[in-house]
This record gives sequence, C-alpha cells and structure tokens, in this order.
Amino acid sequence: MNSNLGKTFGRSGKDKTSAKRHGRDDTPDNALAHPGLAARVAAAAILCDIVQGGHTLDEKFAPDAAPSRLVGLDERDRGLARSIVTVGLRRLGTIRLALSQLIEKGLPRNCGMLEWILIAGGAQILFLDIPDHAAVDLAVRATRLETKSAPFANLVNGVLRNLVRRREEFLDQSDPLEDDIPHWLAARWRRIYGEDRAHQIAAALRDEPTLDLTVKADSPDWAEKLGARLLPTGSIRLESHAPIPELPGYADGVWWVQDTAAALPARILGVTPGQRVLDLCAAPGGKTAQLAVAGAQVTALDRSAERLKALSANLNRLKLEAAISVGDAASFRAEPFDAILVDAPCSATGTARRCPDVLWTKKPGDIATLGAVQTKILDRAFSLLKPGGVLVYCVCSLEPEEGEAQIAALLRRNPDAAREPIDPTAFGLPPEAANSDGDLRLLPFFLPNDDPRQRGLDGFFIARLKRLH
Ligand SMILES: C[S@@+](CC[C@H](N)C(=O)[O-])C[C@H]1O[C@@H](n2cnc3c(N)ncnc32)[C@H](O)[C@@H]1O
Repeated sequence: MNSNLGKTFGRSGKDKTSAKRHGRDDTPDNALAHPGLAARVAAAAILCDIVQGGHTLDEKFAPDAAPSRLVGLDERDRGLARSIVTVGLRRLGTIRLALSQLIEKGLPRNCGMLEWILIAGGAQILFLDIPDHAAVDLAVRATRLETKSAPFANLVNGVLRNLVRRREEFLDQSDPLEDDIPHWLAARWRRIYGEDRAHQIAAALRDEPTLDLTVKADSPDWAEKLGARLLPTGSIRLESHAPIPELPGYADGVWWVQDTAAALPARILGVTPGQRVLDLCAAPGGKTAQLAVAGAQVTALDRSAERLKALSANLNRLKLEAAISVGDAASFRAEPFDAILVDAPCSATGTARRCPDVLWTKKPGDIATLGAVQTKILDRAFSLLKPGGVLVYCVCSLEPEEGEAQIAALLRRNPDAAREPIDPTAFGLPPEAANSDGDLRLLPFFLPNDDPRQRGLDGFFIARLKRLH
C-alpha cells in the first residue's frame, strides 16, 4: 500500500491485494498519482475525521496535523481538499438527503469510507465549480482504493451520475434550517429566535464569506489599496478570496484577518493609551492586537501555550507588544486592571459561516459545560477590575446561556456591577443589533448585501459592564 494512501484513509496494508482483485487500472503504489485523486481521498477522510471523530477543520488543515491526511498534496490540491470539506460540512444535510433519496435501500454495511467518498463527490457536484465527469470519475477511483468500499464502485458511479441529473431538483427542495442545521440546534434556534429569524440565521450560514481585515490605521486608504470595501463597522472586507501572505501590507504587519463582528468587542471596550488592560482568553490575539494598537499596556492570558505561540507570532508580525501569560483565567491573580476583555471559550455556533465544522462537532451538552466555565471566568475577571473599571464580555455563540444569561447572573451576584448599554449605531450596526437590555446580539444575517460573499458577520453576544466601587 502506498504510504500516503495509508495515512489518508488510515487503513491497513490489506488494501493492496484488494485493489488488484477489483481490477482497478492504477497499481497501488501509484494509485494516488492520478491527477486530483489525492485531494478527493484526503477530503473524504477529513470529512469523516471531523463529523465522526469530532476534530476541527483548522486542526485537520494545520501544517503540523497528525496524522496528516494531506501528505504529498501540493498547495493547489490542499486548497481543493479544503474547499470540498468546507462546503461538504456547510451543506452536509442537503448532500445526505439527496444521497438518501438516490440510495433507497440505504448504504451497505461495513463499506469503509463509502459514505464520505459519496459526500465529497456530492459536495463537488452540487456546490463546486468542478466538471461533473471529474467529480464522478475520481469518486469511483477513490472507492476502488479501499478493500471495504471497492465492491461498491459501480454504485458510486450510478448514484453520482443520478445526482448530476437531478441536481436542480435537490437544490430547489433544500431548506437551510431544516436540512443544513443539525436538528437539535435548529430546534433550539426556533425556540429562541422564532421560525423566521432562525430561518434567516440558517440561510446566512450557507454563504461563504470573503475575509475581513482589521487595519492598524488608515482603513479607507488600505481598503483602496487592497481593492476592498470599507464596512460601516470599520473593518475592511476583501472582494474575493486571495492568498493572505501575498496581499499588500501583510509582510509589513499593517493588518490582520479578523471577522468584523470579532473586531467589535475591543472597539466597544474603548481603551486609551497607557491603561492597564487584561485580555483573558486572548489567543490567537486578534483582540490583543487591537488593544495594543490603541496604546494600552496589555496582558494577554490564555490557557493554551500552543495558541499563545500563534499570538506571539502574530504580534511580532504586527510589531506590537503585550505581556503574555499562560494560565487559567478562572484562577488568574494580578493587580487590578483599568479594563478587561473576556472573549470566553464557547460553543462558537455564531462562527459556522466560516467554520461549518462547529455545526457537527458541538453537542447539546457542550452548552451547559461551557456555561459553567464562562461563569467562573467572568467572576474572576470582574474581581480583577479596578473601581470605575470597564469589562467587555463576549462570545461568538448564538446561545443565550452563554451570553445574555451569563450577564444577568453576574449582575445578580455582584451589586457592584452595572451594565453600560451599547449604542450599536455608534459602531456602524443597525439599531436591532442591541437587545432590550442594551447588550449586542449580533446575528449572522446582519450587514445585508446582494453578493452572498459580501454579506453577514459572525454571530456574537457582547456586553459592557462597569465596576461601581
Ligand atoms: C474565543 S477564543 C479567543 C480568541 C481571541 N480572543 C482572539 O480574538 O483572537 C477562546 C480562547 O480561550 C482559551 N481558553 C479556554 N479556556 C480557558 C481558560 N480556562 N483560561 C484561559 N483561557 C482559556 C482558549 O485556549 C482560546 O484561545
């Protein structure tokens, strides 16, 4: 068995004989050499790792991922594999529904990677600009590479050809909330936001956005230089996808990638030069960079030494400084701070536009577990605030247990804490971005635009509190 194939499918050497038995035209040792096949095999394996194994998209595409499904793939094929996986996750429900209608008896038992090969093929046929014949042919070849799936190569061929034929029908009947959001989460959003808003959220999560950048200074200037759009929130939004390190200003540390919603908490904290500011849960440092640019003396704390390495590298590129500390935010001790930013670990359901893996890796129980962590971190953070100091709490979650309920409970526990209502229009947001308490509840369908890649933002909850005494 080709060693790369072993890593991508993670199967044993038995596959070598099976390949010959099923009469495929590649020999095992050069099997993956067929143009584009390695990218499809990697995509199928990574889809399985994420949906069944609970790994994240970023983990699986990290340069040091172990075991790597991407060994031997050039940049182009890695990009292609990532596109297949991303859209495969974003539209997993739609693809599965179509496949289930095409395979009436259901998938055969014990068929190895068959389901994931079909899903990767379906993602290409339904959603990517890839010739249908290539998507079908490469899925069939991928099926033949593995002992358990090899007997079903004809089934794959037939099913995917039918998918091509009935593509418009399947796309027309697909409903964003019903089909592409896991049922437990769709039911939650219906209960919390009502049918219409839940639907709008789900529809917004189908769009694949371009990148937003936060610029150190002169955003309008840089928007022009990058051919990008200046958003009312102050970020700039690229017009199309582009390799980040090749863009003007990257090497000089002029800007960094940050969703426009993620750039708001630091703006709302509004620190001034020389203030002592604590950024709890800081890595990889998008918000730390904003606080440092504002001239604050920033302490950046995170539990993950690994992620703090990325924070440190990011600050170096941006020529910014912060005191970096590894530790648990729930027990961190220090002299009181003028301002504190708490970007708490959360279910991240608001980020599913860019990270559709969260839809399939998060489970209902995670929300309560994370809620308990958030409560501890928030209590500790508030205790580290000087009298008169300001704290901004945020989560990139759409779940009220992680947002609204955390702040309501903190206010009940601390008579010394007062909410400072946020005016969304002061930050380029529509008035409905604030809830009736004056906290921000950002929904992914805000910032509408006719171009699907140009609209929306991450779902966030943001509250601003003051310590009275
Ligand atoms: C939402 S991310 C932070 C993103 C970051 N603020 C930014 O803007 O780039 C949450 C971070 O919390 C960290 N974290 C989770 N539990 C923690 C804890 N108990 N103490 C400190 N950091 C924690 C994670 O390692 C992760 O880096």
